Amino acid sequence: MTYYSFKDSWAKPLRCANAEVEIGEASGHSASSPEFAIVRSKFGGLSHLAHMRRDPLDFFCSMRDHYGENPRLNIGHHRMWLVTTPPQINALLMRNECNVERFQPALRVMSQWFHDSALLGEGARAKSSRRQALAALAKDRLSENAKILRERTMAAVESMLATDTAPSVDLEHFCRIQTLQNVTHALMGVEETLNQGPFVEAVYQSSEIIVQELTSLATLPTIIPTPRNFRKRRAIKIIREHVARIVELRMAIGANDPRQDVLSAMIFHLKGDKRKICNEIVTLIIAGFEPTATALTWAFYLMGRDREAVISLQDELDDVLAGRPPDLDDLEKLPRLRRSVHEVLRLYPTAYSLFPRQAWCDFDLAGLPIKRGELLQISPYLTHRSERWFHNPDQFVPDRFRVEPIAGSYLPFGAGSRGCIGQRAAFMEIAVVIAIVLQRVVPGPVEEEVPVNARFFLRPGASIRQQWFPREAARAETPRFAAG
Ligand code: HEM
Repeated sequence: MTYYSFKDSWAKPLRCANAEVEIGEASGHSASSPEFAIVRSKFGGLSHLAHMRRDPLDFFCSMRDHYGENPRLNIGHHRMWLVTTPPQINALLMRNECNVERFQPALRVMSQWFHDSALLGEGARAKSSRRQALAALAKDRLSENAKILRERTMAAVESMLATDTAPSVDLEHFCRIQTLQNVTHALMGVEETLNQGPFVEAVYQSSEIIVQELTSLATLPTIIPTPRNFRKRRAIKIIREHVARIVELRMAIGANDPRQDVLSAMIFHLKGDKRKICNEIVTLIIAGFEPTATALTWAFYLMGRDREAVISLQDELDDVLAGRPPDLDDLEKLPRLRRSVHEVLRLYPTAYSLFPRQAWCDFDLAGLPIKRGELLQISPYLTHRSERWFHNPDQFVPDRFRVEPIAGSYLPFGAGSRGCIGQRAAFMEIAVVIAIVLQRVVPGPVEEEVPVNARFFLRPGASIRQQWFPREAARAETPRFAAG
């Protein structure tokens, strides 16, 4: 668990004791072609693999710090480029998609949960599944979802305030429950999730196990009774059984079901094939639940460290909403809130690392000579926290989003044809929950800096408790909150 920040680390590569470094330059290009560092790690790249397994984000950050912006590394028996500059990121995600595919061994690890999910596959099947899910998550459909979310969030905050005048909130717990209820409602139209506790636990365990297996040279088959396999089997079983139960209930209602959520779209599109429908829904839950819940946790953490930001958000909410809860259309009238959510996702891009891509063929990536079979890794955290693309990158400054960031420098939801399909839903959820909470309470200060813990998503490295003071009482009675 570490804090990471870069100041001038796009400078020349440094030499390192356990690696040989050679400076390469793309041939046949102009003088402005980028230099790149070919890093030959000793021990066949195993030390890189071990570092990545221990802490993937620390690995990306230190590779960039040591070897500059364009390192080519060996990771086990693979060669991997760290793609770190906006022009290269843009070129990879927007113009060279046809030259790469997602790294299949990584998808195979994940397929233990999703089986042969079309959403995560390649080709025409994936495109068609994406279209269906995107249509079901369109703005008009999310509006109903936003209403339920705000009722639930208001009820949760009121009930906390009813039992305690200034409750001490376990932020992760609060955000997970709000998000799980919302994700299951948006995707499957269910009001309550059965057995929330074990389900949440199973999703978080899965994320832990996925990152361990993604960074292993080899994993033992699941039938071998190791403690990790035991946990994995149990987590997969809980998630899949939970989803299957809901799918069965919904399929039993049949054509008379008036709901227009993702599950009804999938039932129609996949012609009632229960196994395939479950695969897609499990994919959406694993892809959507944890990053949204965690982004919301980071949002309250950052608010607790910036009283001015809270006051200015509350002023905006008062001006625009005059005390009523927000609906989906209101979000367009709340620019400070929108900029704040962007800033949370810039500082803590919960998807801190995109799926590695693998080159199908040799091609030129904005000056880098990519060879067939090589891997390309993008970490949004690296650009988001770089002084080169964002002034004072470690500071929470929502107003920086008054100006559009440079293309390819800000990508919390990825970009291009494989960008996040849930970004609108996730953004709506984070903004609505923040608005409802800030209309009622002032999040108390969080004095300690919380480190990040990079697992499959970017989690807080310590649990965060935050006192929530009812707004009026906070302003009137508590000296440390007196405005100005
Ligand atoms: C703050 C919350 C979220 C963040 C930060 C996030 C981030 C991302 C990112 C960066 C990608 C692209 C990965 C890549 O290019 O390798 C992605 C893909 C995806 N996301 Fe999200 N996501 C969030 C919420 C959601 C939600 C709520 C859902 C579902 C309702 C969802 C479903 C998906 C799916 C299915 C993909 C794969 C798309 C494809 O491969 O075509 N995400 N997400």
